[in-house]
Amino acid sequence: MKASSFYHGGNVYAKAKKLNLHPSEIIDSSASLIPFKPPQIVIDSLSSEIKDLGFTYYPERGLSDLKEIIGQFHEINPENILPGNGASELITWAGYEASKFGTSCIPSPGFIDYERSLACWNCNVIFSELPKDWSNTFPQAFPLQPVSEVIWITNPHNPTGQLWKKKSLEPILKKCKLVICDESFLEITPNGEKESLVPLTKTYDNLLVLRSLTKIFNIPGLRLGYIIGSSKKIKQWDIKRDPWPLNSFAIKVGIDLLSNKAFYKKWTKKIHNWINTEQKLVFYELSKVKNLKVHNSSTNFFLIESESSLSPNINYLENKGILIRECSSFKFLNEKWARISLQSNKNNKILCREIQNSFKK
Ligand SMILES: Cc1ncc(COP(=O)(O)O)c(C=O)c1O
Repeated sequence: MKASSFYHGGNVYAKAKKLNLHPSEIIDSSASLIPFKPPQIVIDSLSSEIKDLGFTYYPERGLSDLKEIIGQFHEINPENILPGNGASELITWAGYEASKFGTSCIPSPGFIDYERSLACWNCNVIFSELPKDWSNTFPQAFPLQPVSEVIWITNPHNPTGQLWKKKSLEPILKKCKLVICDESFLEITPNGEKESLVPLTKTYDNLLVLRSLTKIFNIPGLRLGYIIGSSKKIKQWDIKRDPWPLNSFAIKVGIDLLSNKAFYKKWTKKIHNWINTEQKLVFYELSKVKNLKVHNSSTNFFLIESESSLSPNINYLENKGILIRECSSFKFLNEKWARISLQSNKNNKILCREIQNSFKK
């Protein structure tokens, strides 16, 4: 498979160049980020690192301070934690682990990066189709039975925005040799954290839980995530990976962000309020469009489904500097589907107006 097959949203730089715009002039609803500037802690942390040690030393290889802070944050032994260059780097290592057990199942449509990771390690994959319609009550029971040794779960699920009930995931841990649960969007999802499998890593050695700081703090450019699971597995990857996958700045920011729980609580509350408010507005506006179905979601992104191809609408929006995620690269979806992520109130109004206009063409 070609690298270009693993299509992601968020191609702001390329689109801005094409439209002769600055990236900040684009409304990027194709990557599911929050519309808030990163917290001041990030800026303060970076400035102090530049002034202090910054560029002149290699980063600390053992990542011990960062592991310690993440451990305190989740009440997990630091030995069971491995920070990475975004969740994406750790998805590659989770794929390495998966390759030891046999076939991997990716509930689909699903996040494209799992397939990339499995292709790196020549792993067998099956794609199990998720139902195409779901209720507006979250969390929901996970609808698939495991049919292979390894399963990749995304909670909440990308691209559908469904939040899976923890209780419905636990039986899968008893059936599969390895369960990889990607919780990259869980903190930002209202009532999401209760469904986290992180506490179960203490009981199940076959569970790996991925977390990302990208979404919650709007720092996709910094690259910072971590995985929680069996210390034996994690140690094996640690020996094989690059010597310095995280730079000194990401390490320092991670430590400063996660060591302040009061701030974290306040910050996530702000995000949950934003999702609850803006989702109502956007769903209401888009539901007015004839022949367009707006699918329910627990989080900051959702799917729309049209009776005909959305390609003309996507082109129309692109020319207005608005990006939404076309879905033909997702298994079991096609050009009639698109994923949209919530924006600021001002940009949501523009987004909805232009989507409505695109259907009048
Ligand atoms: C489900 C899911 N997991 C992981 C990632 C990657 O996160 P990171 O920026 O931490 O590499 C994404 C990015 O879009 C995602 O959608």
